[in-house]
Order: sequence, then C-alpha cells, then structure tokens
Amino acid sequence: MKFFIDTANLEQIKEAQALGILDGVTTNPSLMAKEGITGQDNILKHYVDICSAVTGDVSAEVIATDYEGIVQEGDALAALHPQIVVKVPMIKDGIKAIRYFSDKGIKTNCTLVFSAGQALLAAKAGATYVSPFIGRLDDISTDGLNLIDEIRVIYDNYDFNTQILAASVRHTMHVLECAKIGADVMTGPLSSIVGLLKHPLTDSGLAQFLADHKKGN
Ligand code: G3P
Repeated sequence: MKFFIDTANLEQIKEAQALGILDGVTTNPSLMAKEGITGQDNILKHYVDICSAVTGDVSAEVIATDYEGIVQEGDALAALHPQIVVKVPMIKDGIKAIRYFSDKGIKTNCTLVFSAGQALLAAKAGATYVSPFIGRLDDISTDGLNLIDEIRVIYDNYDFNTQILAASVRHTMHVLECAKIGADVMTGPLSSIVGLLKHPLTDSGLAQFLADHKKGN
C-alpha cells in the first residue's frame, strides 16, 4: 500500500519524506488555507515547493466547478510540475474533465467520493485515483471502511486501473484496516503514519536491552 500524507505543511511533508516511506502528498483548499497559503501565485509556488520536497505524486485541487474552468485550471496545474495530479471533485462536469485529462495522459484524483456508484463513475472516466473519504463517513455514523471494501470488489470485478486512495484517514486503525481490505493508497495526517511505530513492548524491550548492555559494560 502506498502512503501519502494529507497536508500542505512543508515541515511535516519533509519529516515524512525523511522517514523513507512516503509515496506522495494530497492537499485540498482547506489544507492550503490552514497553512496560510492564499493568492493564486503563492498557491502555485507552494505546489512546486511540495513537489520539490517529495519523490511521488502531489494532488493539487481545482477550484472551478464547470467543465471549461476545470480543464483550464487542471491544465495549468499539470504544467507546473510532472509530479502534479489534478484533483477534481465528483460532480458531472468533474467526470467529463477527468475523461479529458485521462485522454491527455494527465493524472487525476477524483475527490469527495462517498458512494460505490460514484467510485464506479470515476473509474469509468479513467481517474488515476479515487478518493473515498472514510473519516467523514464515520463522522455521520456510516461505515467508511465498508465503502473501501465495496469499491475493492467492484474494481477487481472489472480490472479497473483506478487506484483506491483511502482519504480522510484519521488514525492508525484506519490505515491498518485499509491495508487489510486492499486499498492501493492511504492518505492521512503524519500522526496516522508515525503512530504505526508505537508499541509498549517495543519501548520496554528496548529499555531492557539498553539497561542490560550498560550493566555488562
Ligand atoms: O484527502 C481528503 C481529506 O483531506 C479529508 O480529510 O479529515 O478533512 O475529513 P478530513
């Protein structure tokens, strides 16, 4: 499973990259605003800075919601850097635009996906990634992981190439359950990645090894 970090925070992106286990980055307009990145020039520069800090795909989301606007914005984003993936919302014009980008060889991430039917449409349009938001489904007492399961079955039935990018991952158990189901990618906060390191028996075992070594020297 690929690990993407879901943030526009350059320090956290660099920290994850330095671990040697990062495969890419996802951003969205809310995450950019959270980092205080505003104004078109600053936003575009920030995407390039992120691309320079990592080796994998970097999702950059369009703001336009009409076909012509999405295509114009997406073409400009894709021209910024070869690592850019154009993130497009799951709306009718978005699906049309994903087909356009797919035919042009531009990678896409279909975002704001909350149902298996939406994921099927994204795959039919040729999306590179589909982003089901599991945490937000959990937030409304719906089983987000069940959606990953459903999409996995559908995509495997027809050998769709679209990669399931489990998004809105909130914690380590989301990561583990997505790995068990067979999501191709997960994107979450740095805490959901480094949290996988933690085990009290590792900590106590290491402390014991170091103490015993000290006694013997
Ligand atoms: O990649 C989508 C993700 O950013 C949404 O996460 O935590 O805002 O639901 P969240």
